[in-house]
Amino acid sequence: MSAKLYPVLESTGRQALIDRKTYQDWYRESLEDPDAFWGRHGRRIDWFTPYTKVKNTDFTNDVTIRWYEDGVTNAAYNCLDRHLPARAGQTAILWESDDGAEVRRLTYDDLHEQVCRMANVLKKHGVRKGDRVSIYMPMVPEVTVAMLACARIGAVHSVVFSGFSPEALASRIIDCDSHFLITCDEGLRGGRTIALKNNADKAIDIAAAGGVEVEKTFVVQRTGGPTGWKPGRDLWVHEESATVSADCPPEPMNAEDPLFILYTSGSTGAPKGVVHTTGGYLVYASMTHEYVFDTHEGDVYWCMGDVGWITGHSYIVYGPLANGTTTVMFEGVPTYPHAGRVWEMINRHGVNSFYTAPTAIRALMGTGHTPPDMPALRLLASVGEPINPEAWEWYYHAVGKGRAPIMDTWWQTEAGGILITPLPGVTDLKPGSATRPFFGIRPELVDAEGQVLEGATAGNLCLADSWPGQMRTIHGNHQRFVDDYFRVYPGKYFTGDGCRRDSDGDYWITGRVDDVLNISGHRLGTAEIEAALDAHPLVAEAAVVGYPHPLKGQGIYCYVTLMASPETAAQRQDEDTLRRELVQQVRREIGPIASPDHIQFAPDLPKTRSGKIMRRLLRKIAEDELDSLGDTTTLADPSVVDDLIANRQNRR
Ligand code: WTA
Repeated sequence: MSAKLYPVLESTGRQALIDRKTYQDWYRESLEDPDAFWGRHGRRIDWFTPYTKVKNTDFTNDVTIRWYEDGVTNAAYNCLDRHLPARAGQTAILWESDDGAEVRRLTYDDLHEQVCRMANVLKKHGVRKGDRVSIYMPMVPEVTVAMLACARIGAVHSVVFSGFSPEALASRIIDCDSHFLITCDEGLRGGRTIALKNNADKAIDIAAAGGVEVEKTFVVQRTGGPTGWKPGRDLWVHEESATVSADCPPEPMNAEDPLFILYTSGSTGAPKGVVHTTGGYLVYASMTHEYVFDTHEGDVYWCMGDVGWITGHSYIVYGPLANGTTTVMFEGVPTYPHAGRVWEMINRHGVNSFYTAPTAIRALMGTGHTPPDMPALRLLASVGEPINPEAWEWYYHAVGKGRAPIMDTWWQTEAGGILITPLPGVTDLKPGSATRPFFGIRPELVDAEGQVLEGATAGNLCLADSWPGQMRTIHGNHQRFVDDYFRVYPGKYFTGDGCRRDSDGDYWITGRVDDVLNISGHRLGTAEIEAALDAHPLVAEAAVVGYPHPLKGQGIYCYVTLMASPETAAQRQDEDTLRRELVQQVRREIGPIASPDHIQFAPDLPKTRSGKIMRRLLRKIAEDELDSLGDTTTLADPSVVDDLIANRQNRR
């Protein structure tokens, strides 16, 4: 593939923080002498007790990852208190409501006070250092208050995306054994209300049946709409906050004390609780936020993600606030109430850098609305999935008017922060390429046997050494952590992504090589969706694969085999009714983001003689790529394929 090259841009209108030579020098040092490099950059955050050790990591044996291990600090202190002398009156969070009628500006002083009060509310009701607190909230400033309040007292937050169902919330409450939940009466998105408190009530019942009792629910009032209420358990945050002091000293936390758990999908099994710790995570999130977005004092920065995902954790909350930036928070959806909403917001608030996902870019492009000139906009960025060159060009020309470089940032929940990305003022841009590794990142492409490939080539993307933001373990299952990430290619961290390296040494992520799907930038495991389908009484077996989708990046294609017994055949409704029921089933078990796009009923699934489902074949049929089905002779029953082809749902 020959790539169009956009030469390195100085045209952010100001001197970028680092230049090409600095990048090269720092990058070399970060690999050759990580202790010196990260020792120096670790001091970008404030420490109550300075560290004397920097890196202590081992990708073999039991896998230990420790950074700054004898340092003591507090993440909330770094995001709030240390800014007060110089920035008390500066806007920390600039929030806009779903309908755009309401704008809230919380200064660092306001945010500090609210976080201290919330922290005292949590303490008053029994939350202690190390306790897990689940957070199930929409995009309102109080979600940031909740996260930082936990961090302030050393409680470990587990934010669950507000689009997840009660079942999904319950399984996450159970997995991390959390006895506390922070939620909202209702959320608002695109003009619709989401009954979060009522969902939470259902989740609490399910969790109780699963053996985990939520003792206190802290409820933020957003809409004032009706909710169920259990006196003694349920507490209004605004009432409680008024009863406590606005003074709450930050808990001294060891660098390796957990800061949060965030659940993400793997290729098998239930979602895993990714554990991030305090010191290294904050150093890495704030450093990447500063250099990738070329963040200068006074910048207005908008990441249009959701706090329910890692992007929101690192680049709406921790990174920007640790850097004392104004972080924009948006409650709604990009095309509501009209196609120009996003651009209107950028101009209303003078946004300097804007970070979103390819799926949103494609949706905005699809509206046909031409973005106006946005004079303050200096930098654009993308995350979540490979960006197709057509969307890149539109983002660059129509949105950025050729003045704003695009940072295509590749990373993962496990990474804590951006891993491969261009840097403003440093990297020549190629539409569709994430280009170069950030400091300390050592990418390696390996073949199926684990052989390291050199030069221009394609392979499975591994990282050969640790970085401070790396996850430390899977909550409650360190062995799964070791097996999933470090045993596939022993001694290396395996990312699960395929990747190409061109002759300039630039990296092009090609997508997951495992059974993880990427639906509109949301990460979902095929195994989770299969489990949701299997739970239906009429389903005997289900296999789920992804296929290319013009808007969502990937769509969800399900093959379902129904129970064959005469009794169940008698209960069987017509196929369309059953399809609708199965879609509902998946939405109920996981949430609307997991809604199947296609369900194909199949009398049988293609299996090898040893009984393994041949997913490669199912993917090809779902993609309507019938010319390249490959060898089907190893199938136990090759005739199964004819039926699958004849009844395929996604015809071009
Ligand atoms: C994909 C999101 C190509 C990738 C931060 C990765 C990307 C998965 C990019 C992680 C990008 C993310 N280019 N692919 N710029 N960014 N991905 O954990 O497959 O929700 O492994 O983290 O998204 O998704 P996660």
